[in-house]
Amino acid sequence: MIQFINVTKIYGELRALDNISFSIASGEMVFLVGPSGAGKSTILRLLYREEKPTSGQVFVSNVDVSRLPNGQTPILRRRMGIIFQDFKLLPNKTSFENIAYPLFAIGMDNAEIKRRVHGALKVVSLSNKANDFPKNLSGGEQQRVGTARAIVQGPSLIIADEPTGNLDPNTSMEIFQLLEKINQKGTTVLIATHNQQMVDQMKKRVITMSNGKITSDIKSGSYHAV
Ligand SMILES: Nc1ncnc2c1ncn2[C@@H]1O[C@H](COP(=O)(O)OP(=O)(O)O)[C@@H](O)[C@H]1O
Ligand SMILES: [Mg+2]
Repeated sequence: MIQFINVTKIYGELRALDNISFSIASGEMVFLVGPSGAGKSTILRLLYREEKPTSGQVFVSNVDVSRLPNGQTPILRRRMGIIFQDFKLLPNKTSFENIAYPLFAIGMDNAEIKRRVHGALKVVSLSNKANDFPKNLSGGEQQRVGTARAIVQGPSLIIADEPTGNLDPNTSMEIFQLLEKINQKGTTVLIATHNQQMVDQMKKRVITMSNGKITSDIKSGSYHAV
């Protein structure tokens, strides 16, 4: 599903990623951990093609996204769902409209949009908040809307960058469990997080980074402070 081959990313003088190689198989749920500045977000930005590597290759489903023409980026992103720390919901749109937004953007017909959005709302247990605006939702509920928007196109890969960074511990656990449920239905999930306690509880594969390098990669691991 994901393969990094000798990937280096340099910003000015700084090696944000230093000759990184790893792969993630289809169906895995993986945590990417490490201190602030380790390079976690850079890995994710290379995956959704927000950035290109300075050298090396980044494969998503056998496509080298580092060589993908700009015009193909939207097609790549349709096959992945992205979840952000700050939710990135449109404030003047309801939950339903926020989740429907990517479907409108690709010109899907209204009946199909309705069916898909209600399906996604059900997965995140927010059917009763379909018509609420973000400002009337709790942080956890907003992130569940963000998660519904990420899954609504049926992506094969979910990428989450500090999805619980703005949430309290109980709410964070709910979000991780929701992502685990989505993973159990077959979607590959990659989560960058600082949340040591949660990662320890989840017992999934943990890739630890420090200074642009991978320092450990453990199958059913826990967070290793470095
Ligand atoms: N656009 C950028 N320009 C310059 N430096 C950047 C940029 N993005 C990230 N960096 C630097 O790259 C390093 C890795 O950043 P990042 O991947 O965001 O780390 P993390 O997500 O693990 O906190 C940091 O030192 C950061 O300051
Ligand atoms: Mg980050």
